[in-house]
Amino acid sequence: MKFDYTLGFVRLLFPVISASFATGELNGEDSSLFWGTFRPNLYFGLRPRVPNSLMTGLMWHSLADYRAISETRHACEQGDRFEGYTWTEHDPRLGGIQVLNDTRMNVQLTTEWLKVSGGETGGSWAARISGKPIREDEPSSTAIYFYVGSDGLGSLELENEEDGNGIEGVIRFTGSTSHLGDFRLRIEDGPDVTYVTEGLHAERFSRKLGKTSFIGLPLQQGQVWKAKELLLRNIFQEAQPILSEYKDKDREPPSPAKAFCYPESFVGEFSFDIYYDAEDVKTKLDANGLTAGIKGFKNAFHERFLQKFPLPSTTPKDLIDFSKAITANLLGGIGYFYGTSIVDSSFTHDWDDDEMFNTGEKKSSHPALVEPRELFTATPSRSFFPRGFYWDEGFHLQLIGEWDNDLSLDILKSWVDLIDDDGWVGREQILGEEARSKVPPEFQTQYPTYANPPTLTMAVTAYIDRLRALPDEIDVNLGMDPTGQQVLKVPVLEPGLSAFHLSALRRHYHWFRRTQRGQIRQWGRKARSRTEAYRWRGRSETHVLTSGLDDYPRASLPHVGELHLDLISWMGFFTRTMRDIANLHWSEDNNMYCDVGIDEDDESHFVCHKGYISLFPFLLGLLDPNSPHLGSILSLIRDPDELWSPYGIRSLSKSHPLFGQGENYWRGPIWVQMNYLALSTLYKTYIPSPGPYQRQARDIYDELRTNIISNVFKEYQRTGYVWEQYDALTGEGKRSHPFTGWSSLVTLIMSEKY
Ligand SMILES: *[C@@H]1O[C@H](CO)[C@@H](O)[C@H](O)[C@H]1NC(C)=O
Repeated sequence: MKFDYTLGFVRLLFPVISASFATGELNGEDSSLFWGTFRPNLYFGLRPRVPNSLMTGLMWHSLADYRAISETRHACEQGDRFEGYTWTEHDPRLGGIQVLNDTRMNVQLTTEWLKVSGGETGGSWAARISGKPIREDEPSSTAIYFYVGSDGLGSLELENEEDGNGIEGVIRFTGSTSHLGDFRLRIEDGPDVTYVTEGLHAERFSRKLGKTSFIGLPLQQGQVWKAKELLLRNIFQEAQPILSEYKDKDREPPSPAKAFCYPESFVGEFSFDIYYDAEDVKTKLDANGLTAGIKGFKNAFHERFLQKFPLPSTTPKDLIDFSKAITANLLGGIGYFYGTSIVDSSFTHDWDDDEMFNTGEKKSSHPALVEPRELFTATPSRSFFPRGFYWDEGFHLQLIGEWDNDLSLDILKSWVDLIDDDGWVGREQILGEEARSKVPPEFQTQYPTYANPPTLTMAVTAYIDRLRALPDEIDVNLGMDPTGQQVLKVPVLEPGLSAFHLSALRRHYHWFRRTQRGQIRQWGRKARSRTEAYRWRGRSETHVLTSGLDDYPRASLPHVGELHLDLISWMGFFTRTMRDIANLHWSEDNNMYCDVGIDEDDESHFVCHKGYISLFPFLLGLLDPNSPHLGSILSLIRDPDELWSPYGIRSLSKSHPLFGQGENYWRGPIWVQMNYLALSTLYKTYIPSPGPYQRQARDIYDELRTNIISNVFKEYQRTGYVWEQYDALTGEGKRSHPFTGWSSLVTLIMSEKY
């Protein structure tokens, strides 16, 4: 077995022209969340939590054939068809270990990364990249590139002499930026690496033997994210003279390794280390220190995991490792984003143009770029959805907060900072050119009249619940309850959420009440309250993207008089009151909760589709444990001809004519976060309350919990991935993967932390 490996470094330099800085400010006392793997869209990308600064990335390809080079790995892509990749351990404050099984390139890579906190400039870090062939009986050769790019004001200089043949030995950079201060960066071969000293291309490239190739490129500001494109263009240009020698001849072209002048080869497993040393941090790591540090981190992660998410001692190791990996990959999916986004303040649909928005002229579409914002957030999927999603984030923070409550607060505050003067937050945060490059143009625009399920309120409540263990509470009235009864208790010791954030949340709540209000009396409806009814804005004939349940069936005619059950439930959840849901949305004839629509004769009528929407008053814990409606809901859930499956609760009833139809996104498939809501509400609200349905609640809970855990785990073992959703009839993983956003809630389900 022979295993070649070639190392290339790319330095992307941005010449000093101008700089723009956002608010990113480093608090010298706690630098533990400053540097991180905060480019989670990449297989391995580091950056600090400030805009226009230093960024790193990793790229690789096999040298087996020319096609492999055009498939160079950089950003996580489903099309790369890895057999699996995940952070197996990750703590944004400490470090992480990731395994990537790149079957096509025949290499298993491991990226290990460790932080050294301290100093005033965000601390130091070190990383080790190692590789070995997956199929040992096949030749394997890999070219690897590590790049460092400066996207803003500052300097970045190579210290080594470089003569076009590469660099011998350790590679050293120095640099400086206003946020990072002075720093040094060095790259060196790992321990136990054996070089090939003769062979294949020794003759032609003898001058390059044992050296590392290097490319330095000047760049426009904000272009470091295009590193792969720039690299490929560069190496193809370099190879042109050699390739052209073969153009008109009948000879076979040279191997890619020859054509691209990759000189350095190793035998067997390989590794190399990168050390970033901030000038003001005393501890400097070397190879031995890194080896020991990673080992210590791995053990510490394991201990903390078992302490935070206790499991019975009989739990199989495979299942614990799975739970650790999905948690680690959610934490490793946290990113820092900065940039402009596209907002359209003028467009409205006809059916949204009621008296609240009736401004006459404002109809046409005028999308515009708005000023750059920053966001620190988890991401639903590193490959498919590598950016912030409002309604996912509330769920992400349930798990993140259980691991590290202060980290969840940092993320929560970053989202709250996006709440604008009106109280609005865009539901999908596509900040900057890199983020936009992943989204089709028709989905890039955000509308300031469109909402999304207000799950941030879930995160606030959970954060405060976790703090409640502390003594000396004070009362903070968020003013979210019109009756003035609802009061949140916030401990004095560490309020965490400042008055500024609380006032933004209040503004956010009132934005919902003002802009998503539904019409009651106009359509002859009777309700105890004249104001408490709601309608999602921005629906189309076929989709209510704003509800989060895109293609779930609703009233067939979009209408200004429509009322949405899930939105009134979310609003009830905001203030923990049931109010008039029963009054307006309960259909005696159908024995279920329903949307309300307006028919062709302008009459109000119930719009009933058995599925997740019908469960909302239950899912959000708003129903009284003694309510007879609870019995109907539990029966609907437990009926195998309707919502029940051995893999979890289906989004739409198997008996519904639209079951599995159309794009089949929310028309049957099983979603983990909705099942988590059901389990959570059963566990916290309905199992502890004596009443006619207590027994039924417990039985459903036990079975459902087992079904969800076993199916998601089974599919992980079968496919190597956690999935966005699971098939309603077979339980097979479907759509985006890895999807370690809210599907990672399985960890909370396993340890019964709701
Ligand atoms: C990678 O492959 C190894 C060997 O087959 C396996 O043990 C490991 O679980 C895989 N990891 C991932 C993340 O797929």
